[in-house]
Amino acid sequence: MLRATTMLLFLYATGVVAQAGFSPPTIETCLGFENITSVACVNRYASVLPYPFARNNPDPEEDNFINTEVPSDSSFQLLQNASFIVFDQSRGLEIIGSAPKVERMFDTRNDSIHEAPVYVPDLNVLIFSLPHQGIYEQQLINLNTTPPTLENYTTHPPVYAVNGGKWYKNRIYWAAEASFTFPDPTTGAPVQQSPGIYMLDPYTNTTTTLVNNYFGTKLNSPNDLFIDAHGDIFFTDSWYGYAINVTTYPVHAPATYRFRPSTGALSVVENTLEQPNGIGISPDGTTMYISDTGVTDFTNVPPTQVPRYNFNPRGSRAVYAFDVLRSPAGACITGKRPIWLAQTFAVDGLHVSHEGYVLGAAGTGIDVLSAWGELLVRIEIGEVVNNFQFVGAERDEIWAVGPSGIWRITGLGNIHGLWEE
Ligand SMILES: *[C@@H]1O[C@H](CO)[C@@H](O)[C@H](O)[C@H]1NC(C)=O
Ligand SMILES: *[C@@H]1O[C@H](CO)[C@@H](O)[C@H](O)[C@H]1NC(C)=O
Ligand SMILES: *[C@@H]1O[C@H](CO)[C@@H](O)[C@H](O)[C@H]1NC(C)=O
Ligand SMILES: *[C@@H]1O[C@H](CO)[C@@H](O)[C@H](O)[C@H]1NC(C)=O
Ligand SMILES: *[C@@H]1O[C@H](CO)[C@@H](O)[C@H](O)[C@H]1NC(C)=O
Ligand SMILES: *[C@@H]1O[C@H](CO)[C@@H](O)[C@H](O)[C@H]1NC(C)=O
Repeated sequence: MLRATTMLLFLYATGVVAQAGFSPPTIETCLGFENITSVACVNRYASVLPYPFARNNPDPEEDNFINTEVPSDSSFQLLQNASFIVFDQSRGLEIIGSAPKVERMFDTRNDSIHEAPVYVPDLNVLIFSLPHQGIYEQQLINLNTTPPTLENYTTHPPVYAVNGGKWYKNRIYWAAEASFTFPDPTTGAPVQQSPGIYMLDPYTNTTTTLVNNYFGTKLNSPNDLFIDAHGDIFFTDSWYGYAINVTTYPVHAPATYRFRPSTGALSVVENTLEQPNGIGISPDGTTMYISDTGVTDFTNVPPTQVPRYNFNPRGSRAVYAFDVLRSPAGACITGKRPIWLAQTFAVDGLHVSHEGYVLGAAGTGIDVLSAWGELLVRIEIGEVVNNFQFVGAERDEIWAVGPSGIWRITGLGNIHGLWEE
């Protein structure tokens, strides 16, 4: 008896627990990265963890798989320093390539999130936005200099509280959240705006309003968008403009719309998500993806509290896939199905790669999913990431933006941004 107890204690101490189904190590170094702590491989999605285990972090954006407490499995420590956490070894290692690296490029002003990063290829700049009350300009990273430089950027007329942006046919398309009148940062003259879709010509810095109402009512606050191969604009209209106090209390339920620039028609295409957020389409145009950030709960929040939501872990945090149907009015979507439940927070910025991978910014990193929602790699930044974009002539670098910093991810393998994204 004594021997058996000692043996059991020994097994616990070495992490080899006599637990049917558990086959250690849970985490190991990856093939080709034996001495490199920035890359770690997870076996079998860690589907059986040895007891006891718990996720206890009270901060919803820090409560993450890597912070799972698994005291009897020392291999879990390998996740602590890993920037690239590989869940699917064959597809994941192909994505991260042989020398992946995350670098912190800039500290940012910490009074706003950072959103809507759009790469302008022939100018080689990244333009992004600070959707926050009282911040009226965007910012621009000039990638032509070494090191790259960060500057304020203002358009004519200026656009307030841009939260989503995409590149299409030499223009930037913006989803903007604000309706409050604001002073032009250059002249101080009052600028009127309504939540809507705006177009920026980055060669002249001038903007055009494309849609700013729904039959005379205000949109809630367009959050993110993409333009399909037919030139139709699909955008999510959630409640975050009210959340950050740049517009009035919403008059519409959250929904996703199609705006058809050729006719001016604005049509609802989806209205079942709690707070539709990131949106994208597969490279072949047959599958649309929309993330839901229903974990931000607007009920019973006093208007004096900004942002005007509380975290509700039981709110929706799924990415949904839809089948795209053509109609004379433009694309419609059907066949709603959840394909991924964010393992931390919820997916904010969402982009589809040239290869069809679905990438989503969630909490402190970026999830790289297959087209069907399998987690292949988690890029862990360590600080909150709101959104990201592929940059460079080959669109093979990723720049990530968050409330506290801006990061560059380089040395990746076979993953590239779409040309028009
Ligand atoms: C990894 O480190 C070990 C010992 O520190 C060394 O023997 C081995 O050659 C290294 N492997 C590689 C691929 O650098
Ligand atoms: C993680 O990095 C820290 C600081 O460089 C180091 O002290 C620690 O040993 C590393 N942990 C692992 C598991 O590699
Ligand atoms: C923001 O930055 C300022 C200046 O560096 C600092 O004093 C403040 O603590 C920071 N706030 C947060 C929330 O990190
Ligand atoms: C951008 O403008 C703000 C004032 O609106 C200023 O505080 C900040 O330093 C400027 N940032 C850069 C990078 O020039
Ligand atoms: C547009 O803004 C950029 C960045 O501030 C500036 O370098 C460029 O000269 C501006 N272009 C025009 C046509 O004003
Ligand atoms: C919301 O914005 C309005 C208009 O700028 C301002 O008067 C009000 O104080 C703001 N409310 C909060 C809670 O920040």
